[in-house]
Amino acid sequence: MIFMLHHLERTDMADTRKTATLTLDGKTYDLPIHSPTVGPDVVDIRKLYAQAGVFTYDPGFTSTAACDSAITFIDGEEGVLLHRGYPIGQLAADSHYLEVCYLLLYGELPSAEQLELFETTVTKHTMIHEQMHNFFRGFRRDAHPMATMVGVVGAMSAFYHDSTDINDTWQREVASFRLIAKMPTIAAMAYKYSIGQPFVYPRNDLDYASNFLNMCFSVPAEDYVVDPILARAMDRIFTLHADHEQNASTSTVRLASSSGANPFACIAAGIACLWGPAHGGANQACLEMLNEIGTVDRIPEFIARAKDKDDPFRLMGFGHRVYKNFDPRATVMKQSADEVLELLGIHNNPILQVAKELEREALEDPYFAEKKLFPNVDFYSGIILEAMGFPTSMFTPIFALSRTVGWISQWKEQLSDPDLKIGRPRQLYTGATARDYVEVEDR
Ligand code: ACO
Repeated sequence: MIFMLHHLERTDMADTRKTATLTLDGKTYDLPIHSPTVGPDVVDIRKLYAQAGVFTYDPGFTSTAACDSAITFIDGEEGVLLHRGYPIGQLAADSHYLEVCYLLLYGELPSAEQLELFETTVTKHTMIHEQMHNFFRGFRRDAHPMATMVGVVGAMSAFYHDSTDINDTWQREVASFRLIAKMPTIAAMAYKYSIGQPFVYPRNDLDYASNFLNMCFSVPAEDYVVDPILARAMDRIFTLHADHEQNASTSTVRLASSSGANPFACIAAGIACLWGPAHGGANQACLEMLNEIGTVDRIPEFIARAKDKDDPFRLMGFGHRVYKNFDPRATVMKQSADEVLELLGIHNNPILQVAKELEREALEDPYFAEKKLFPNVDFYSGIILEAMGFPTSMFTPIFALSRTVGWISQWKEQLSDPDLKIGRPRQLYTGATARDYVEVEDR
C-alpha cells in the first residue's frame, strides 16, 4: 500500500533586510524581521537572550509566533480563514472533509486518483485493535467521552508499536492514517459505552461522516439509514473544525511533540487541552448555557451577568482570541443549522429561539461591540449536533475527531522542520530569592 501520496518541500522564511532596533541600557540590538507570505511581520528574537541577557514576556502568546507554518492562515480583523490558501467558505461549500484532510496534510488539492487512494487508505484503517474493546470496558459507564478519548488515544501507543518511531517517515505516515481513520470509531465507541449500548463496527461502504453517524446511532435491533443531508451537515462540521492555526490544543500537540513524544501521546495531549471550556469545551458549555437561560425573557439577566466584572460568567460561544469581527466558520455553521433544523422539521425549538434572540441582543449591546465579541463556531455547532440527536457530552469529542487532521498536519510539519527545538518557554520569576532552610522546630 502506498502512503506517501505527495511530498511537500518546506520553504524557509523569506530572507529580509528589515530589522527592528531594541535599545537597552544605552546599547542597541538589531533584531531581524521576517515577512510572511501574508499577515503581519515577525520580529525574530531568538538571539535576544544570548546578546542582551533579557527575556521577552508574553503570557498567552498574544504577540508571539512560536513556529513558522504553511498550513493555515487567519486574519482575525477581516474574518479570513485559509487552509493552504483556500478560503474556508469555499471548502465548506464545495469540498468535503477527507479532501480537506488531504489538502491540510499534503499542501495541495488531490487529483481524482490521489483522492481515491487517500479515501481508500483511510477507510481501510477504521477498525481498532480488538483488544482495545477491553480497554474501553475498564472505564466507568458515566465517564465523559472526552475522558475516555484522552485515555484510549494515548493508549494507541501501546497497541500500535509499529507506528511510534517519529524518525521514520513511513511510520509517521502510518500513524497519521491510523489516527484520522480510527478517531471516529473511538469517539463513537466512547459514546456507545457511555449509554450502555453495544459498540458498532465501522462500515467500509459508507463515507467518513455517514460511517460515524452509523457507529453512533445504529443498534443491532433495527436498521438505521443515514440521511444524506445529515451526513452532509456532519461532514461540514468536521470540515469547519479541521484546523485552526496555532490554537491552544495545536500548540499543546507541538509542545508535546517537540520532546520527541510519540504521535498518539501528542494527540492525546491535544485532546486534553481541547476539553477546556475556553476552547473546544465551549460547544458543550454553550448549549448548557442556552438550556439554563431557557426562555427569551431571561436573556437580559444573563447578558447583565456577562458584563458584570465581579461575575465570572461569560457568554459561551462568544468571543475569540483571533477573530475580532466575525468568525467565518460561524457564518457557514449558522446556514448549516438552518438547513438541518428545516430538514428535521424543527421550527419552534425553544433553545434555538433563545440562541437567535441572544445573538441579536448581544450584538446590539455596546459592551460586546466595544470588546469585539461575536458568536464563534461553537455558538451554532451545538444547536446542530443536538438536533441530530447527540448529547452535549459528545460535542467536544466530535470537535476532537475533526481537529485530529489539523493536529497531525502541524505535527508532521514540525517534525520536518530542520530548526526543531524542544519547546521551553522562559519565565518572569516573582518568587523568593535564595534563603536558608529552617528546621521544622524553629519555624
Ligand atoms: N462574554 C463576556 N465577556 C467576554 C467574553 C464572553 N464570552 N469573552 C471575552 N470577554 C471580555 C473579557 O471579560 C475581557 O474584558 P475586559 O477587557 O474588560 O477584561 C475582554 O472581553 C477580553 O477577553 P479575554 O479573555 O482577555 O480575551 P481572550 O482573547 O483571552 O479570550 C476567549 C478569548 C477565551 C475565546 C474568550 O472570548 C471566552 O472565554 N469566550 C467564551 C468561551 C468560548 O466561546 N470559547 C470558544 C472559542 S472558539 C474555539 O475554541 C473553537
